[in-house]
This record gives sequence, structure tokens and C-alpha cells, in this order.
Amino acid sequence: MNHPFHTNEQGHLVVGGVDTIDLAKKYGTPLFVYDVSLIRKNARAFVNTFKQAGVSAQVAYASKAFSSIAMLQVAKQENLSLDVVSQGELYTALQAGFPVDRIHLHGNNKSFEELSMAVQHEIGCIVLDNFYEIELLSDILEKQGRTMDVLLRVTPGIEAHTHDYILTGNEDSKFGFDLANGQAEQAFEMLQEMDSIHVIGLHCHIGSQIFETDGFVMAVRRLFETLGEWKREYGYRSKVLNLGGGFGIRYTAEDEPLPLDGYVDALVDEVQKQVDFHGMEFPEIWIEPGRAIVGNTAVTLYRTGSIKDIPGVRKYVSVDGGMTDNLRPALYQAKYDAVIANKADAPLTEKVSIAGKCCESGDMLIWDMEVPEVEYGDILAVYSTGAYGYSMSNHYNRFPKAAVVFAEQGEDQLVIQRESYEDLTRNDLPYGIKERV
Ligand code: LLP
Repeated sequence: MNHPFHTNEQGHLVVGGVDTIDLAKKYGTPLFVYDVSLIRKNARAFVNTFKQAGVSAQVAYASKAFSSIAMLQVAKQENLSLDVVSQGELYTALQAGFPVDRIHLHGNNKSFEELSMAVQHEIGCIVLDNFYEIELLSDILEKQGRTMDVLLRVTPGIEAHTHDYILTGNEDSKFGFDLANGQAEQAFEMLQEMDSIHVIGLHCHIGSQIFETDGFVMAVRRLFETLGEWKREYGYRSKVLNLGGGFGIRYTAEDEPLPLDGYVDALVDEVQKQVDFHGMEFPEIWIEPGRAIVGNTAVTLYRTGSIKDIPGVRKYVSVDGGMTDNLRPALYQAKYDAVIANKADAPLTEKVSIAGKCCESGDMLIWDMEVPEVEYGDILAVYSTGAYGYSMSNHYNRFPKAAVVFAEQGEDQLVIQRESYEDLTRNDLPYGIKERV
């Protein structure tokens, strides 16, 4: 199966040293279960590879992949930095006690409130995305009498091979300043005039779920071309080069990601070449992995319900969650592997398709997977749901959001409670205007 979990003597799937069937009974389903030791392992793989290469770096966990107070506490323990893209993600980071100097704020439409909160809490860096933000930030800094380090997000015009919906680095993009049409340079010139804003370097993000290093290498070259020009024209020295996230993971056997240190080594090698070529100092390298830190560290547990067999066509097995806790199959046609967690060692005897519970034909989690005989009440564990699962969950059909459990070395702990029906209607207000006939 090639997923990082094993089974116990009862043939049950074990995550973080805990029997998933016990977890389903204890906390109910749908349930996200993270193996925290795997989160640590992934984080350390990135951090240590930079250390071994002798490169000063920040590995900023992209919290959009999965943000919660417990998750950010683990990120802090592992000496990660943090990429936040909204006031909500920033608020969560502050609640988790994340060190502010290691928080970076992103976003293509940062609001006055978001920027003000970031400035007020003196976060480490703001990644500037557009001209509008330059004005807004400089006004806020002036009012608060503070200064801020920024990176300029640029679009280097490189297409990473991935699904169209998650391509963010090409030129026809809502993100960042274009390198090709001179907008990046124009922004840079404007910022040189401002005492309150310090441009400490450039940022780019070329896409997500990337399996090769070519795109990253090309991005490094392109950014250094620009930095070379700015060095000659303005005597500019870049302290930081942020190459974004996008490091791919394995969802199914079709995916062949590199080991995490493979991506880092390729980046470091290319930066070294460029530094030598342009006669520059080696910058600090920042990266922003989300999926590669948490993606393969969790499973989602569901209970199987109704089974519809259409002889000669298909057998549908419905589960008690779906596109409300995992939007990726419906949104990107993303593929997942799964196992019947209470029969994990049983021989595979039939093919079924796993349907979600939402009132929508597109709510299918997995097509045509091989399983042992499935019965009502089995526990299905879908692998690799740690990134963009809970974080993209929603209330369609008014399903309460699932619970999240962290398991580590045989112990388990609830870290996000299951929503109640009271939670669902908490913000609803009755209509109070008198009926007009
Ligand atoms: N940095 C920036 C600026 C980003 O835009 C992203 C992802 C990341 C870092 C983290 O990328 P990662 O390492 O996780 O690939 N919802 C989609 C993914 C959207 C990613 C958007 N930006 C999905 O479920 O596949």
C-alpha cells in the first residue's frame, strides 16, 4: 500500500500508535486523525537538510494546509516559521502563542484590518502582492509609527506541471508583481523611497503538488536575473529569497514525489550557482511547504452506511462525510487511496465506489477501489487527508464540521471538537419584521 501506517493483531489500522477503530468509537466519525510524529518527521526533514547544507533558512509552514492551535503549537516546537494568508490564520497563530517574528503574512487582497493587526503585533514579514497594498501599508506604518520588513511577491512566469486550478505562478495570475512587464521593478523603486518599509528580498510560488525540481530551478534563475539587475542599477543586496511551497506528496500510486531533501538540495545547488555567477552573498532561503508537512500525516475515518449495488454497473458505498470534509475530489478530481480500517489485512474481493453524503452527484470520494466485503458500519480510512481537508471543509447541507484528533506514540488527544447542531445555528437570527400581506 505504501502509506506510512501499519495494522495490529486484530487487523485494524493503527495511526500514531493508536487503533483507529477505538478512535472511531471514542470520538465518532467523520474524524481526522493525525500522526504527530510524522508531522515532526516531515518538518525535521526540511529543517535538517538546510542545516546539513550549511544554509541559513526559514521553513515556514503554510498554515492554509491545516491550521489549528494544536497544529501551530507543534509547528512552533519544531522551529518552523509560519505563513498565514488571512486575519483568521494570523489570529489562530497568535492564540497558539506562535513567535511573531517568525510569522509571514500573505494574500492578494490584504485588508486594512489584516495589515493593521500584522503591524500592531510586529510580525516578522509581510509579503507585498500589489500596488494597492504598498499605499495601505505605508499609511498604517506611518499612523502606528512603526517599520516593517517585506518581501515582494513576483510572478516569474513559470508553469509548474500540476492541476490548472492550483497553478499560481504563471503570468496571467491574480498574485504578485509581474517580472516580465516591469511592474516588479516599478514597485521596488517606489519602496526604495519609503523609510518605513524595508524590502528584504523576493518571493515567488510557482504552484502546488509539484513532482520535479525543474520549475524551482528555473524560478531561482529568473529571480537572480532580476536581483542581478537591481544590484547593478541600485546597488541592492537581497537578504532573503523565498521560493514558496508546492512540494508534492503521494496520494495514490500514480504520484511519484521526490524525497523532501531532494527538493531542498536542488534549490540550494541552484542558488549557489547563481550566487557565484552574480558575485552575490548567499541569501537566507525561505520556503513555505504546507502539503509536504501535513498531507500524508493524517487519515479521515468514516463509517459506512447504505450500499447500493447496480448489478453489472457499480456498487456505491456511502459514508457519513464527503465533500464537506474533503472538497478536493469534487473540486480537483483529486484521487485518494483508502482501506477498510477494521479489515485492513483481509483479502480484497470486490470493487466499490465511495460516495459522500451530500445532496450532489459529484460528491464522490473514491471511484472503483478494491476492498474486502464491505458491510454497514465498517470504518473506512482515507489516506493522505492531512492537507487541505479540514481547512477546506464547509457546511454544505448543514453538516457540522468533523473532529480532529492528534495521536502520538500510543496516546490520543482531541484537538478540534466536532461541531454541534447548536454551533450550526449559533449565528442565525430569527426574522423579526412583521409579516406584510
Ligand atoms: N505559499 C504560497 C504563496 C501558496 O500560495 C501556497 C499554496 C503555499 C505556499 C503552500 O503550498 P503547498 O506546499 O501546500 O503545495 N487547495 C489546493 C492547494 C492550493 C494551494 C494554494 N497555495 C489543494 O487542495 O490542492
